[in-house]
Amino acid sequence: MEKPAVCGGVPVRDTKIYYGHQYIDEADVAAVVDVLRHHDLTCGPKIGELERKLCEITGAKYAVVCSNGTAALHIACLAAGIGGGDEVITTPITFAASANCALYCGARPVFADINEETYNIDPKEVAAQVTERTRAVVAVDYTGQSVEEEELLEICRKNHLVLIEDGAHVIGTKYKGRPNGSIADMTTFSFHPVKTVTGGEGGAVLTDNEEYYKKLLLYRSHGITRDAGLLEREPDGPWYYEQIDLGFNYRMTDIQAALLISQLDKLPMFSARRKEIVARYDEAFAKLPQLRVQKEIPESDTTRHLYILRLAPERLKINRREFFDALGAENVCCNVHYIPTYYFPYYERLGYRRGICPKAEKLYEEIISLPLYYAMTDQDVEDVIHAVTKIAQYYARE
Ligand SMILES: Cc1ncc(COP(=O)(O)O)c(C=O)c1O
Repeated sequence: MEKPAVCGGVPVRDTKIYYGHQYIDEADVAAVVDVLRHHDLTCGPKIGELERKLCEITGAKYAVVCSNGTAALHIACLAAGIGGGDEVITTPITFAASANCALYCGARPVFADINEETYNIDPKEVAAQVTERTRAVVAVDYTGQSVEEEELLEICRKNHLVLIEDGAHVIGTKYKGRPNGSIADMTTFSFHPVKTVTGGEGGAVLTDNEEYYKKLLLYRSHGITRDAGLLEREPDGPWYYEQIDLGFNYRMTDIQAALLISQLDKLPMFSARRKEIVARYDEAFAKLPQLRVQKEIPESDTTRHLYILRLAPERLKINRREFFDALGAENVCCNVHYIPTYYFPYYERLGYRRGICPKAEKLYEEIISLPLYYAMTDQDVEDVIHAVTKIAQYYARE
């Protein structure tokens, strides 16, 4: 049996591979340089062009791009009318922003447990958490797999809740043949560099609802408007504008928008490669009893942003930390997504305690995010599989 590098064996790779990496080509560079040669670095024509492109790709009526995915969640919550005393249901297996957006509005995040096989928020657990104070559900398409839209929409319609889909991972995925972004009341995207397409930073909110759209525009830019239909007073000149609400500077630059437009041209190519890598990982890991493969719901045609390796602790002599370190010694540099949000000291100080979502807590103990990105070569993929297999077999418990 092959000896893992962590106990003196030869590492699978000479060079390190990381869990995520952007792919930038010459077209992306040229698109950015072109903006730099023109007048508008922000609030220029690339913003509308990107918004139209996101609508085309997702089928949503309206898109509002903004500075990042966190800002997108914040303005989506504000547009949904979330405020003090409200409750917002979300999953703990996500980045902190999915719950923080409720706190920004003075609302209380309520955590609903996950489905132990798909790792997404479980609609039954959501239904169990609804109270008369619940205002919205922030449903995260964890790893890029679509949440169970139909079931969540039914709960939201029945209880008069707004369904905000945190689609930071989901671009490129379809639910029952419809692109995610056109299904929930509002869907947010993130364009951070580890995501499938990037603008360096960036975010967007997609919706079919005109009322939300108008509010999103206001909240993105200080609550300021020049829209004649919204002005409360008579303009005293062509420079005139009014602040009619309290908003933020959450604008995206034209530099970011140009990069994103160019990146989105490559979305089908990014998507296809990610699917190939995931299929190869799934095929290899399904054969190993020491590991579990994330279940896909048949409705989701998934472009995976993250690949989650789940350990079967009863079949291994080492724990997740030791497995993680053993992969590092093979030069396979991984990550863990995510620490349950309510574990953080800040959330503890707000009164949250461990034990709220046992399935999510168990998942957290057993997962490692493996390298997954467009530019991985077939050899990179095989190296990762080799390293994982070597460690799983060496430390197998009979
Ligand atoms: C699920 C999820 N929601 C929200 C965000 C926030 O996005 P951003 O980093 O663009 O603010 C992220 C980013 O990592 C995320 O993974």
